Amino acid sequence: MGNDHDAASTGTPGATVDRLDAAAPSSGIAVITDDTIANPGFPPYRPRVGDLDPEKERQQERRVSALFVLSVVGTVAAIVSYIVFPIIPGDMQSVRLNNLFLGLSIALALLSIGVGVVHWSKALMDGHDLVELRHGTRGSDETRAKAVEVFQLGNKESGFTRRKVIRNTLIGALVVSPLPAVVLFRDLAPAEDPVPLLKRTLWAEGVRLARDPSGTPILASDVTLGSVFQVIPENLSEAEHPLEEKAKAAVLMMRLNPDELVVSAGREDWNYDGIVAYSKICTHVGCPVALYEQLTHRLLCPCHQSQFDITREAEVIFGPAKRPLPQLPITVDDEGYLVARSDFTEPVGPSFWERKL
Ligand code: FES
Repeated sequence: MGNDHDAASTGTPGATVDRLDAAAPSSGIAVITDDTIANPGFPPYRPRVGDLDPEKERQQERRVSALFVLSVVGTVAAIVSYIVFPIIPGDMQSVRLNNLFLGLSIALALLSIGVGVVHWSKALMDGHDLVELRHGTRGSDETRAKAVEVFQLGNKESGFTRRKVIRNTLIGALVVSPLPAVVLFRDLAPAEDPVPLLKRTLWAEGVRLARDPSGTPILASDVTLGSVFQVIPENLSEAEHPLEEKAKAAVLMMRLNPDELVVSAGREDWNYDGIVAYSKICTHVGCPVALYEQLTHRLLCPCHQSQFDITREAEVIFGPAKRPLPQLPITVDDEGYLVARSDFTEPVGPSFWERKL
């Protein structure tokens, strides 16, 4: 410390002192002051209305119970909604109604419990501040010695280290015991090879691009510069499993100035006069990429903020996605409607083990 005082009086940069003799500290000297703020303690307890008036307390109690009853109503409504609005295969409207009423009812049920519990704790439960001092988590020496003693006694009585054959066979049994789980989980994998399953969608040569959800085909002349369309294959409603097919075939289409597009070799005819179509399924973990920033020509996935540059064949410019969105090659038919040139040329959606890309 004596050296520090010397350092302070000489103003040595980088030194630490507890008192500064000079009126103005020179730069590079850290001053440790002793004017720590006194513990202000807790503010005085402010009684709540329910603490002062028993009638108000009963009122709060009734409110909390009402919220819990409301939750029961939500639960019953969820069951009723599920029965009243069944999902009819192929009928998108039935899916929407089912999801809407089921979601609202479950939200009501869970929210009412949450709000009820919070209100209960704030309005009725004993409210007082606590101080919990931190302490080391290490046990005392006696506790640790006792633990070792118990362990050694257990070892001696069981003969775990002495009876080597029993010990080793037990270890062997424990090591192989998770194997059934491996076999069971393995069986959860799709029976079919997932590559063709995910690589093939409803898109094919000549299939018209249609508006989602109405299914009306789109004229190239309707796609104005800067506009964006949510697109499905026109033949989606004829599919055996329309929802599954839509999950793979959903597309976003937008029109840019053709001069802004950077097109790689082999893809020159994949856009039609600046109209480009890309899979809507994010290559990260499969969320729908639905946010288009018209000025920067970027598509944003709302799940984890991956961004794709549409001018550069949807290459990833930010976020956790690793691959560009697959592009759907398009052109127009004799009547001027936009049609696919072929299916996607690679599996859509997130990477998976067998994809090997
Ligand atoms: Fe799109 Fe994660 S799913 S960024």
